[in-house]
Amino acid sequence: MEKSLKITCIPGDGIGPEIVAEAKKVLNRTGEIYEFIPVYTDILMGGASIDACGVPLTQEAIETAKSADAVLMGSIGGDTTKSPWYKLPPNLRPEAGLLAIRKALNLFANLRPALLYSELAGACPLKEEISSRGFDIMIMRELTGGLYFGERRTVEENGVRKAIDTLTYDENEIRRIAVKGFDIARKRKKKVTSVDKANVLDSSRLWRAVVEEVAKDYPDVTLEHMLVDNCAMQLVKDPAQFDVVLTENMFGDILSDEASMITGSIGMLASASLNDTKFGLYEPSHGSAPDIAGMDIANPIATILSAAMMLRFSFDLDGAADAIEEAVKAVLKDGFRTGDIYSQGCEKVGCSRMGDLIAERIR
Ligand code: IPM
Ligand code: MG
Repeated sequence: MEKSLKITCIPGDGIGPEIVAEAKKVLNRTGEIYEFIPVYTDILMGGASIDACGVPLTQEAIETAKSADAVLMGSIGGDTTKSPWYKLPPNLRPEAGLLAIRKALNLFANLRPALLYSELAGACPLKEEISSRGFDIMIMRELTGGLYFGERRTVEENGVRKAIDTLTYDENEIRRIAVKGFDIARKRKKKVTSVDKANVLDSSRLWRAVVEEVAKDYPDVTLEHMLVDNCAMQLVKDPAQFDVVLTENMFGDILSDEASMITGSIGMLASASLNDTKFGLYEPSHGSAPDIAGMDIANPIATILSAAMMLRFSFDLDGAADAIEEAVKAVLKDGFRTGDIYSQGCEKVGCSRMGDLIAERIR
């Protein structure tokens, strides 16, 4: 009997529905060859859910997601300067749905690979002497703690407005992401760079101490500590030095955007958000690009590669995941590009055609 995979899909907003459709196309084709049947149930989140249900994520949607084996997501949110969604109180805006699902599903480990594809090296904004060394970085971002989920409020004291956000981590939250980080490093180049601001923040000093404790169980993995400001600099100066970058929520948010930018192709970068079971939520690292929504020009590759991560991490289908990654490389090698990664001499294709071309190349 063919294995059926229970997948909840969140098409979301902007280009989300288009890119998720292409990922489904590629998954279906991969299933034909690798003998699995994806069974999809869609839920609403973000702006689409606000429009239909008045809130960015309903309890019912959370329950549907929980009942699946994995969640495949497109993107959520709109133009923050124009969309009416951003006139709503912060807890009712599209992004609140994303934070709520991360918390509800306990997705504390966010993996964001930043890989320089040799075919796209020309799009890398770094000097050639740096980019020619290549890089393959896995940003491991803590996703359910820190500033994002600390107490916050805005008050007025003696006519002066004041806003307070709190950054809290307990040792268990740090330990579980550190363990994941070292586990992943073990399967890669066996190096963890733990990034913090231990020269200023107590939460960072605890982070560093707990990471040191965890490292004792991984004598085969090299650990180094780096301050976050230095890390931001090192990413553009010498990205080849990194393997796994392990860091807290806010630093990870910022550094992962930086890491994706130096690949020159944010439209290519996948991500996985995992809890301590096989369950995960998989989404491209980029946003909803409302300016190009519905035009069939978005790059679906990050979502397709996220589907590959899903097969690998949630379903242990490594062969099928490899096949998708190889098909993506083959399409690039054959010279097909969406607009965001286009360079002279290549053939420019739209979102749906790119999905077809990748599906055709699954072996
Ligand atoms: C990300 C995004 C989100 C985050 C936003 C949309 C809330 O920037 O996934 O990196 O800050 O985590
Ligand atoms: Mg971000």
